[in-house]
Amino acid sequence: MPCPALPDGFDFTDPDVLHRRVPLPEFAELRRTEPVCWIPQPPGTAGYGDAGYWAVTRHADVKYVSTHPELFSSYLNTAIIRFNQDIDRDAIDAQRLIMLNMDPPEHTRVRQIVQRGFTPRAIRALEERLRARAEAIVAAAGAHPGPFDFVTEVACELPLQAIAELIGVPQEDRGKTFDWSNKMVAYDDPEYAITAEVGAESAAEIIAYAMNMAAERKRCPARDIVTRLVAAEDEGNLSSDEFGFFVLLLAVAGNETTRNAITHVILPHLAHDSTRRNRVPRRAVAWRRRRPRGSGGRRLRYQGVLGVAQYQLLACQNSHASHGLP
Ligand code: HEM
Repeated sequence: MPCPALPDGFDFTDPDVLHRRVPLPEFAELRRTEPVCWIPQPPGTAGYGDAGYWAVTRHADVKYVSTHPELFSSYLNTAIIRFNQDIDRDAIDAQRLIMLNMDPPEHTRVRQIVQRGFTPRAIRALEERLRARAEAIVAAAGAHPGPFDFVTEVACELPLQAIAELIGVPQEDRGKTFDWSNKMVAYDDPEYAITAEVGAESAAEIIAYAMNMAAERKRCPARDIVTRLVAAEDEGNLSSDEFGFFVLLLAVAGNETTRNAITHVILPHLAHDSTRRNRVPRRAVAWRRRRPRGSGGRRLRYQGVLGVAQYQLLACQNSHASHGLP
């Protein structure tokens, strides 16, 4: 039965809805009236051959679903809520090589290895370089004499550079890894005018590149994050294949989320000044200098979540799907 709290046919995963706005009022309405609500879709819309999904909108319920993998699986149908209509089942199942689409105990094993690479000390070691990159990106954008595209020049650039820095992609390879990442995440964006095949080829290029990097570090260990993930001698480590798919996940999970979050944080500052668009980067920098301590974090928490696509988990027991959550 359609959800009475929403207009007929409303679908949170519809790209046309998300293209126009983030459906905050609809989320709020569901939280108020039907926090676990069935959203029907024409069969096959999301590539799964099913007829819709349960939207779980309250924080406590989302937390419950996310922390009970024995009841709600990321593996069975993957965590991706919507694929292309014409995707085949083998292509969906292939996504299970990515950590996001695993359940324990496999997820726990991979996650523990990955955590070893991202200790507070390893992240602190990157901080200075990342800060310098962020400042250089904003300075280059601010040097434009006229209007420019903030999303392309700032919001896209920072996560691309940060991820390359994180996994130690050499400077000379960054251009092509950026290009692959962009094509992979934007294959269905009309502005890029590329096909799903080009997106898939770019994903394959990233995996192959990262697998080579892993094989190289196994042969010749260095003092970097990749070595800690693939060549730890005494504890378990990631195979070259696993590392390839991990980098693919970073390229997707780290790029779109952060580029949307940065854009959403800046957006309210533009809304009040549409006549002086060429001054935007300087205003943004000025806001950063003047902001009250801690306000950036609050804005990121508020605006940042808007950038995240929905995730799905498949209920393994019917009672949980049809009778609401404990
Ligand atoms: C605004 C920024 C971001 C938000 C809001 C966000 C949100 C999320 C959420 C909600 C999940 C959990 C999905 C689930 O429960 O299945 C997730 C998973 C993940 N994210 Fe992010 N993310 C952000 C940025 C990033 C960045 C910058 C990276 C890496 C560079 C990243 C890497 C990952 C990875 C590797 C996972 C999978 C973790 C696992 O399976 O254990 N994310 N993210």
